[in-house]
Amino acid sequence: MISSKAQYKSKRQQKLEQRQSQSKPFTHSTQTPFRDAERNFKSRLPPPNFDNVIDFYNLDLSSDEIKSKIVKIELKVELGKDDDEEKENIFGDYNELKEEKEIIKGERRIAYVVKDLPGFIFIPNPFTPEAQKNIIKRCLKDFAKYPNKNNLDTHYVLPKEGLWNLHEKIINGELDKNDSRCVVPLKASVTGQNSLYEEEIDAKQEITQKECPQKSLVEKEYQEKEEREEKGEPLPSSDKRLPFPKDIELLTTSVVKSINGIKFYTNETNENNDKQYFVNDYDHKKWKPEAGVVNYYQLKDNIMAHVDKSEINMEAPLISFSFGHTCIFLIGGPTRDIAPIALYLRSGDISIMCGPCRTNFHGVPRILEGTLPKYLEPNYDDDPEWKIYGDFMSSSRINVNVRQVF
Ligand code: OGA
Ligand code: MN
Repeated sequence: MISSKAQYKSKRQQKLEQRQSQSKPFTHSTQTPFRDAERNFKSRLPPPNFDNVIDFYNLDLSSDEIKSKIVKIELKVELGKDDDEEKENIFGDYNELKEEKEIIKGERRIAYVVKDLPGFIFIPNPFTPEAQKNIIKRCLKDFAKYPNKNNLDTHYVLPKEGLWNLHEKIINGELDKNDSRCVVPLKASVTGQNSLYEEEIDAKQEITQKECPQKSLVEKEYQEKEEREEKGEPLPSSDKRLPFPKDIELLTTSVVKSINGIKFYTNETNENNDKQYFVNDYDHKKWKPEAGVVNYYQLKDNIMAHVDKSEINMEAPLISFSFGHTCIFLIGGPTRDIAPIALYLRSGDISIMCGPCRTNFHGVPRILEGTLPKYLEPNYDDDPEWKIYGDFMSSSRINVNVRQVF
């Protein structure tokens, strides 16, 4: 019996063996300092070593080495502050937070930089809980649906209203779980000749090889643009592009303005032993958010080391917002051979990659259980409308990152 089983080779197995026989001697692409760090933070048993993780909220508890790397800087303008005093602050009304003890908040005028990572800027949570909740709702209810693309579109015919709205109807009892409208059909291309199983595995394989579970839409757009140019076909008019959500645009505009011209000394010196400084010389008036990616992480998810270099405009900063559970964020250099720095990104925190940092490898190897802020819990504050979102957030982290393309 055993031998007959061993002799049977599925198409999948045959393909794999063929691939292996063609490939070079097997070397672990895993033996890089970046991979070592990823392995540490992914490990469940033994648990990771968190000793050198930068915690911008508790810097006084850090080692002297970490302390010596971090510089606190003042933002050029207060976040969300508008010339029009009457206007509401888009990060929420800070005055209402005075009494809140549970909330970790950053001041709206401070940021941190890391001396050996010129171009990386960390802004501690400037949002109120209400403002965070509003963005989380937008991410779940509005952004993950037609006409926006998401990774499920590849294989499924998704309902136009989006999966979240379907989920809401089921939870509210407006639709029965067994109703045919709750069935999300696979695309014909997936149910075709090859078995679904093989197709799915192949797709996954491809993802691991690219080491990037998310593919930005921009990348696809560029590929199409290049193909068109090669064939001499006209480019699609830019008005076909979807309008960028106003609320997210305003947040990023404020962030870009706040870091305009910031300058700090790095650890480097030139041949005359002069200290070198980093200056963000990106002109904030040029900022136009053009591509947004929303990543929805469950507790066991991660994103491997990658560089977001599909955007043509690499001068513009990449602005990234975290919501929900805390994660470990790793950021290294232009290759995986440079050991990354690890830091905590908590709900509301903003990280920015600009200048030389734009081409650095980075990733999220771990989401930390039990770190959801109280104010995002499903029953906090008796807000029945929040319940369904809070339930989702009980096992989630959401990352919104915004780039300029042209
Ligand atoms: C990305 C990314 C990091 C994060 O989507 O390209 O690097 O904080 N995300 O989730
Ligand atoms: Mn990235």
